[in-house]
Amino acid sequence: MRFLVLFAIVVSAVRQALAFPPGYFEGHARGIPNLTLPIFSSDQRIDVEANPFLAPGKNDHRGPCPGLNALANHQFIPHNGIVTFTAAILQSNRVFGLGLDTAAIAAVLALFGADLLGVDFPFSIGGGGELGLLRAPTGLSGTHNQFESDSSVTRGDFYQFDGDNYHLQLRYFEALYNLQPDSPDSNYDAETIFEHSHIRFHQSIAEDEFFFYGPLQMFVSCLTHNLVYGLMSNHSAESPEGFLQGKVLKSIYAISTDLSGNLVYTPGHERIPENWYRRPFLDEYDARHVIPDLLAMWLRYPELLLFGGNINGTNTYAPIDLGNLTGGVFNTASLLEGDNAACFVFQALQILVPDALSGLAGVVVVIVSKLLDVLGPLLAGLTCPKLTTINREVLEQYPGYKQSSHPV
Ligand code: HEM
Repeated sequence: MRFLVLFAIVVSAVRQALAFPPGYFEGHARGIPNLTLPIFSSDQRIDVEANPFLAPGKNDHRGPCPGLNALANHQFIPHNGIVTFTAAILQSNRVFGLGLDTAAIAAVLALFGADLLGVDFPFSIGGGGELGLLRAPTGLSGTHNQFESDSSVTRGDFYQFDGDNYHLQLRYFEALYNLQPDSPDSNYDAETIFEHSHIRFHQSIAEDEFFFYGPLQMFVSCLTHNLVYGLMSNHSAESPEGFLQGKVLKSIYAISTDLSGNLVYTPGHERIPENWYRRPFLDEYDARHVIPDLLAMWLRYPELLLFGGNINGTNTYAPIDLGNLTGGVFNTASLLEGDNAACFVFQALQILVPDALSGLAGVVVVIVSKLLDVLGPLLAGLTCPKLTTINREVLEQYPGYKQSSHPV
């Protein structure tokens, strides 16, 4: 009973969060909703005096997400790093301006690492906690190929680093940092992040024999790359549209510079800097930015859309036969036409995620497929061919997919 009540509350909270106002999707080319001009308000300043940074202790969980790690370090979510489904959504929205639609998708994916019988589905933002009746919850770090994915911005690929998919790899951060001159005028903007994402994709092909880049993994990799400038930028009065200086990037990524000028990583010390302003309140990072930013990224580097993986060691990347995967509904050649790319990714998630979760716990599949209604509003603005099945056998050729546990 308690479970059903909770289920109703969560679904209704997500529905309300996603109730877009009338006209939201109208009048924009290719179904992408209208954007409002960012209007600055001094309330965007995140008060780090009232919520000071407190370094994690040895029993506190920290993991692959710099945003959640920073939220825990400033106690916007519990400092021990165990957060509920609802708190993860609301605090990501309140502090970083992550849109409720996108935060809800992230929180649904986090269920793979959550305690599915706990009140409001608590999960560890790092490794497995001691919670859980149904099965030992793995935490976000344990969701490889369910949420956590290869070819991340700064984290290592799971098999390449013996399962360490949560620590920042300094050379990846350095590569990103060095894409701009070391100057206060440098802005880590969309173009810089797109370039980094392209570099990381080719690095995974060349260095990770088990690199797997299926539809979900591609979506996670591309989206989280875009979160760097989308959510970490300072939206101060001088730059209401956002400006991401190197020193802000370093702070939120737990990086400092030592006396010799070398970059140093202190795991778990992600910190929101002083005088940092989140996104304007009417301009959250929701579907109105997520979809156009993904399209811009894919148009800039179309090979990022070539789902696939290494099949026999490094540099053996084989793209998935999309026609075969989707029963002929989509094909690679037409993926960049119209809304096809976004249509394919969101519909594939609607099919693949409940499937994979039901492998873990049958009862929960009902909840998750309802929660995946959150993808409905994103799809509503797009013109899509209808995808009804995914031929999972096509994915079995990839060792990185086959050997992971309940992959999406
Ligand atoms: C519901 C809330 C959230 C959840 C469940 C979540 C979960 C995750 C997970 C599992 C990853 C690892 C993905 C991978 O393997 O590459 C990740 C990465 C990332 N997340 Fe979050 N996240 C949330 C909110 C945020 C927020 C508020 C920010 C704001 C800065 C953020 C920024 C990022 C970035 C930049 C990455 C890429 C990390 C890297 O490889 O350098 N996320 N997140």
